[in-house]
Amino acid sequence: MSRSDVALETPVQARTEAPEARPAAFGFQNVVGQSPSIRRAVALGVKVAEHPTTTVLIHGATGTGKELVARGIHYASTNAGEPFVAINCSAIPENLLESELFGHEKGAFTDAHTQKRGLLELAGRGTVFLDEISELPPNLQPKLLRVLEEKRVRRLGGLEEREIACRVIAATNRDLAQAVAEGHFREDLFYRLNVFRIELPHLRSRGDDIDNLARYFAETICREQGLPPKHLTVEALVVLREHGWPGNIRELKNAIERAIILSDKDRIEPAHIMIQQRSSVPAAVAAESRQVAGTIRIPSQGITLDEVERQLIAVTLQLADNNQTLAARMLGISRPTVIRKIRKYRLQE
Ligand SMILES: Nc1ncnc2c1ncn2[C@@H]1O[C@H](COP(=O)(O)OP(=O)(O)OP(=O)(O)O)[C@@H](O)[C@H]1O
Ligand SMILES: [Mg+2]
Repeated sequence: MSRSDVALETPVQARTEAPEARPAAFGFQNVVGQSPSIRRAVALGVKVAEHPTTTVLIHGATGTGKELVARGIHYASTNAGEPFVAINCSAIPENLLESELFGHEKGAFTDAHTQKRGLLELAGRGTVFLDEISELPPNLQPKLLRVLEEKRVRRLGGLEEREIACRVIAATNRDLAQAVAEGHFREDLFYRLNVFRIELPHLRSRGDDIDNLARYFAETICREQGLPPKHLTVEALVVLREHGWPGNIRELKNAIERAIILSDKDRIEPAHIMIQQRSSVPAAVAAESRQVAGTIRIPSQGITLDEVERQLIAVTLQLADNNQTLAARMLGISRPTVIRKIRKYRLQE
């Protein structure tokens, strides 16, 4: 996806899209997928886009599309013509991040040879995307809170308060509530950011979307590289569905790009799909299983075998994020058997 960066007064750390950047390249129409969880996330994005000053918090694992959705919100809003500025809170040293965000006056510190406006000012009525917000240094957390509360910013070394009008969209792959509980993130800032929250699902919980996304990437990557179309064989799709996708959509996209390079034919076969093989149960699922384990209880009056089976399948599906293939593998039974039992116990409507 091409990205038009413009050099404003900011150095390289922040990416600022020109107001004339084409919304078509970044809008919600680029969010592929029909699973209810992704459609729900997009519907929330469309809704909040109509409120161009509301703060948004996007939560999702790596590669689930947080930045894509943030852009979708920006370009669907009435302020789409204003800048979209992205900055990664974990990638920049603390003092630099502070002057990037809030700006500084000439002479505010040794290297401040000129005055500089911060991103919150430069974004105008556009969007500032604060990626990896959980890594915002503790010292800057109360400063950001103040700016968000008062909609005013004071440059470093400056006296004057200036009004700001941008929307802030923050993203995190960490559980912020947990970071608050552990004392790494301020509770008041968490509540201020958590006004409108959008959850992005793991790819492995998105069922048929693996097929939809794989086909979409095969088509778009071939087109971008000027290659004749290559279609995915049924067998290749089975291999893709079996994988746990810890890197989510980014990992899938890269796998398809690799497969396109490896395939000399007009189709992509299992042999072209090189993905890191993991243990039979993906690591993320194994980690979650520790939390959910022990949920089957046997009451003193006893329990029927059917009820134990119902609970076991329900818990396994939960661990597998409703991925029936993975659940079948975890239970050592076939996928049709899992599907039959899901129907029998009415576990998925
Ligand atoms: N639903 C989707 N449809 C099409 N492409 C998608 C979708 N979700 C993500 N992508 C693509 O996958 C890649 C990763 O998405 P993105 O950078 O938005 O993820 P992220 O959640 O910000 O990841 P990270 O946490 O690693 O920063 C991008 O190339 C993006 O365009
Ligand atoms: Mg990102």
